[in-house]
Amino acid sequence: MSLFATKPLHKILADAEKESLKKTLGPGQLIALGIGAIIGAGIFSLTGTAAANFSGPAIAISFVIAAFGCAFAGFCYSEFSTMIPIAGSAYTYAYATLGEIVAWVIGWALVLEYAVGAAGVSVSWSSTMDSILQSFGIHLPPALVNSPFDPTPGIANIPAVIIVMLMSAILIVGVQESARFNAFIVVVKIAVVILFIGIGYFFVNYQNYHPFIPPNRGKFGEFGWSGVVRGAGRIFFAYIGFDAVSTAAQETKNPKRDMPIGILGSLGVCTILYILYGFVLTGLVNYKDLNVAAPLAIAVNHFPQSYAFMGFVLKLGSLAGLTSVILVMLLGQSRVFFSMSRDGLLPKLFSDLHPRYRTPWKSNLMLMLCTSILGCFIPINNLGDITNIGTLFAFVLVCIGIVIMRRTRPDLPRPFRTPWVPFLPIFGAFVNLLLMATLSGITWAAFLVWMAVGLMVYFSYSKAHSVVQRS
Ligand code: ALA
Repeated sequence: MSLFATKPLHKILADAEKESLKKTLGPGQLIALGIGAIIGAGIFSLTGTAAANFSGPAIAISFVIAAFGCAFAGFCYSEFSTMIPIAGSAYTYAYATLGEIVAWVIGWALVLEYAVGAAGVSVSWSSTMDSILQSFGIHLPPALVNSPFDPTPGIANIPAVIIVMLMSAILIVGVQESARFNAFIVVVKIAVVILFIGIGYFFVNYQNYHPFIPPNRGKFGEFGWSGVVRGAGRIFFAYIGFDAVSTAAQETKNPKRDMPIGILGSLGVCTILYILYGFVLTGLVNYKDLNVAAPLAIAVNHFPQSYAFMGFVLKLGSLAGLTSVILVMLLGQSRVFFSMSRDGLLPKLFSDLHPRYRTPWKSNLMLMLCTSILGCFIPINNLGDITNIGTLFAFVLVCIGIVIMRRTRPDLPRPFRTPWVPFLPIFGAFVNLLLMATLSGITWAAFLVWMAVGLMVYFSYSKAHSVVQRS
């Protein structure tokens, strides 16, 4: 039994063939799919705390740094997704190429990306909802909107629990977002960001840009250049989701050409929007006042009274956007668990389908429980950082995977080739490792404990039950 057993490519392609999904998606729809998964709590929430604690107005530079890490990983994802054009994630790619243990490690890290990520977005949803209700004069008790570890401690974050339950119920019944609904939400989200930038630009107070990079306070990550990089480690969250495009490879008309366009295109659009958004946000509100979970709401309160209505529309639009990100992430998580369970690495429970709805309902229910507990009791910054460390780690492995594959399987057809191999993937791995290194000790502790538990599960259960190992 080898830790590096691979799942044969022909078997993966044959399994995929059975599902015979309709090939309907073109490059435009793929870019929309990516943006639908990308724009969410990162931009609407975490930008505020990153600017207030680490980067100051230089948050725009943090966005550029994080974009580099993502773009390099995006190239590598593109190569994998055209080499193995099936509905997979980094887990599937690794299983086909790098071996079971690497696939397991990536699959386990993806739980941090999807499940913990969904919990983080649910907390952002909660504060946005709270702010909207306040515009109607409805004031929820702070104890029921804040977690015990928030700056203003509460008891439990109830709206975050409610939204996770609602989205899980939708997933169980199987009402998946149709392409049209997704397109609608994407238009709403882009409109929110562009409107915010377009209107906010006129009310920027240029005093707020001085100093652009506030001087370091004598500690790594507290402003200065180290703060700019630390800020990039936090707002990396805003870019997570572009890898969702690769899961649609099987439904794409011409994956060889369109996958890279979808992945890199959605990243490109978001990078430009984010940089402008960062400028306008820190121009409207002094960075010191942005240490809140719903900075967009604070910023629109700086619009003149005659624009009050616009502020309300923006909050509503961002709420819709956050809702769709939670749905996509919970769906992504249940799909990864589904594949891992079909491969025997997780118990069958995770791929049991509901007799009527044909959805992995038990998996959805367990995820609902865990995700809502996280959203209920843990502050958004911690959830965001833990999501980031897991995703960054998966990206590092994907980058290294491309270099290894070029050596071990040069024969595989590669319709899209990452340029400048090995330099670009190595540099990509380096940038993502650097961003990981900026994250706090507690984030690292959570990450290491999670990965250690993962290895224990692998060696005590998965290895013995693996379908590939047994065949
Ligand atoms: N990028 C997604 C968001 O910011 C996860 O909500």
